[in-house]
Amino acid sequence: MAKRTGDGAPRVVTDPPELRRLLDAERRKGATVGFVPTMGALHEGHLALVRHAREIADLAVVSIFVNPTQFGPREDLARYPRDLAGDVRLLAPLRTDFVLAPPVEAVYPSGHATTVHVAGLTDGLCGPLRPGHFDGVATVVAKLCSMVGPCKALFGRKDFQQLQVIRRMATDLDLPVEVVGRPTVREADGLAMSSRNRYLSSEQRARAVALVEGLRSGATAFAGGERDPAALERTVRGKLESRVDRVDYVFVGDPETLHPYPGPVPEGRTVLAAIAAWIGTTRLIDNAELGLDRP
Ligand code: PAJ
Repeated sequence: MAKRTGDGAPRVVTDPPELRRLLDAERRKGATVGFVPTMGALHEGHLALVRHAREIADLAVVSIFVNPTQFGPREDLARYPRDLAGDVRLLAPLRTDFVLAPPVEAVYPSGHATTVHVAGLTDGLCGPLRPGHFDGVATVVAKLCSMVGPCKALFGRKDFQQLQVIRRMATDLDLPVEVVGRPTVREADGLAMSSRNRYLSSEQRARAVALVEGLRSGATAFAGGERDPAALERTVRGKLESRVDRVDYVFVGDPETLHPYPGPVPEGRTVLAAIAAWIGTTRLIDNAELGLDRP
């Protein structure tokens, strides 16, 4: 059932086939669709994606679905922030056309048995630390894209490995979707915006800036000519020590393959520096493509 939520507010649709019918009707009239998949708890990072969707397409569609299959058994599914009404209020001034907010049973009805697995790109970084996570992401994004139909789908570079996995999946499954990657939106002090930042106490919030400071040090070293991945990694790690509680990884390597460079970073190539680290019980990630981004 679709319902209007008020003047200028997006139309909230909970039934995926209904959204598909509505969008097919618009596409037949020549409209193009920009699609922003999210798990809600929207912040300026999400809203920037929606604004860009409006710029590159006629209609903006946002999905809000906390996808259970991408959370591990000991992860934060239960405490993940949920506020559909608040999210819809944030989307209204952006002239979002549709919000897809399906119940779990509409996405994973009983008997659901198909999983999308992207090999290779999920071998490193968050892959081994979050078993099944990228299968959950690839599966739900493939399904959401099928629900929406032909579109431009926008994703943040904040989740760089996710973006690469989704690009690969969309190509390999011949989805009628153009994947668009967008820059990371940051707080004034540089902390990458994240729905999980709201878990941080003010003391933890102050320490969280260590991640972007690590990336900035890496970017400075790279700009100064450092091409040894091990040296770049040490530089990034140097800013994390004693400020974060645990480092899951610091990756320095090829942004395309997500594998380490066997030797020095080749001439003319950029390098991905990516961090996953814990502050208390909150896991934060951030990255920068050195030689391209200055976080
Ligand atoms: P979620 O964490 O809600 O993020 C939705 C989109 O917003 C993703 O493309 C993410 O990269 C982007 N995003 C988050 N923080 C950002 C920031 N600071 N700057 C720019 N973009 C940012 O990522 C997911 O949800 C899920 O895995 C999903 C793709 C929806 C599949 O369930």
